[in-house]
Amino acid sequence: MKAWFWILIFLCSCKITIEQPKPFVLEYPSYFGKPHLPEDNPLTQEGVQLGRKLFFSSIFSSDMTISCASCHKPEYSFADNQDFTEGVYGKKVALNVPHLINLAWNPGPFGWEGKSPTIRKAIENAIISPQEMNGNFKDIINRIQQNSTLEKDFHKAFPNTSMPISRDNILKVLEQYVLTLVSSRSKYDLWKQGRYEPTESEKRGFELFFKSPKPGVQRGAGCGDCHTGNIITNGLFMNNGLFPVEEGLSKFTNNIFDSGKFKVPSLRNVTLTAPYMHNAKFKTLEEVIEHYNSHVFISEYTSPVLLYQQNEFGNAPKLDLTNLEKKDLIEFLKMLTDTSVVQK
Ligand code: HEC
Ligand code: HEC
Repeated sequence: MKAWFWILIFLCSCKITIEQPKPFVLEYPSYFGKPHLPEDNPLTQEGVQLGRKLFFSSIFSSDMTISCASCHKPEYSFADNQDFTEGVYGKKVALNVPHLINLAWNPGPFGWEGKSPTIRKAIENAIISPQEMNGNFKDIINRIQQNSTLEKDFHKAFPNTSMPISRDNILKVLEQYVLTLVSSRSKYDLWKQGRYEPTESEKRGFELFFKSPKPGVQRGAGCGDCHTGNIITNGLFMNNGLFPVEEGLSKFTNNIFDSGKFKVPSLRNVTLTAPYMHNAKFKTLEEVIEHYNSHVFISEYTSPVLLYQQNEFGNAPKLDLTNLEKKDLIEFLKMLTDTSVVQK
């Protein structure tokens, strides 16, 4: 009887000493607003650290050659500098690699065409897609089980379950790491915090970017009508007048009126993410500005925001920006660069 009593006490005390993961506090400026953090995946220090380790490992790709960071390169703000990057076996991906910063402020869905309802789903798609990593979770789980350090890391990140190495938990730690990729140290941020005085050109570019053009009233480039707020995106899917009109969001909503709609990307770090657009159509920011300035393609699906943009009467949808205005806009876009994300 006595022995049973002590065994019981021993078992109880074991349970109490299981170390719980420590919460990870996401740091960001108050003007970012509240992030969208998934309720079923609280950020923990152990989870984020493990997610980071996996992000840079090639454990997911079928031939163990490719990591998430092969395409989402820190030095390019977690995008890359290729048109259509190669995944496993040299297969080309169908879309330009998007950057991964400040996704915690993006309500989703994710992917250029809204293919993935959550970040976790976008990560799962990257792993299993034959053009990207061609991974298979049975092999991946095996590989992790055979690596004693990784195995321990999973036990630390998920101490309250008997099977910590699961598809769900792998995706959860990767999602946790991606959510911590916050970029908030650009010159634009320093200006907001009163620690940088912009040049005249940067200030003029800022005004143009956020002002809508109103002929006879004010000149503007109207970029901020879609690339809104401090994250520099409204997080919506819109048709910005690219030719030809592709399926875009309609591929997944089956609504014809979503044709040519793609995710409005955040323009933070845009100097690091060339080439531009879902199809890498433009190589430089000058080409992008020229698109909005005079080459917006009008179809029945083009965003109404663009249809009426004009700085001179009767010339919509042309912005008629001067060379100096185009230069100023680019100076403002350069202000959004934050090279500190490279160290994340
Ligand atoms: C071969 C290149 C490649 C690899 C490897 C890759 N990705 Fe991606 N990733 C892409 C492309 C291309 C897209 C855009 C997909 C789309 O638009 O549907 C994308 C989209 C994403 C998105 C959605 C971003 C957004 O803004 O909507 C996330 C998150 C993401 N990847 C994370 C990861 C993680 C984590 C890994 C590693 C497990 C990974 N990716 C591996 C190419 C890659
Ligand atoms: C009607 C909404 C809208 C307006 C207005 C708008 N954009 Fe965009 N922008 C988008 C969408 C949507 C995309 C993505 C399109 C795609 O990839 O097919 C995009 C993409 C971009 C990209 C590419 C980013 C990347 O990472 O590939 C840049 C740069 C850009 N816009 C700059 C601007 C500038 C500068 C202005 C103002 C002159 C502007 N945009 C006005 C909706 C808009």
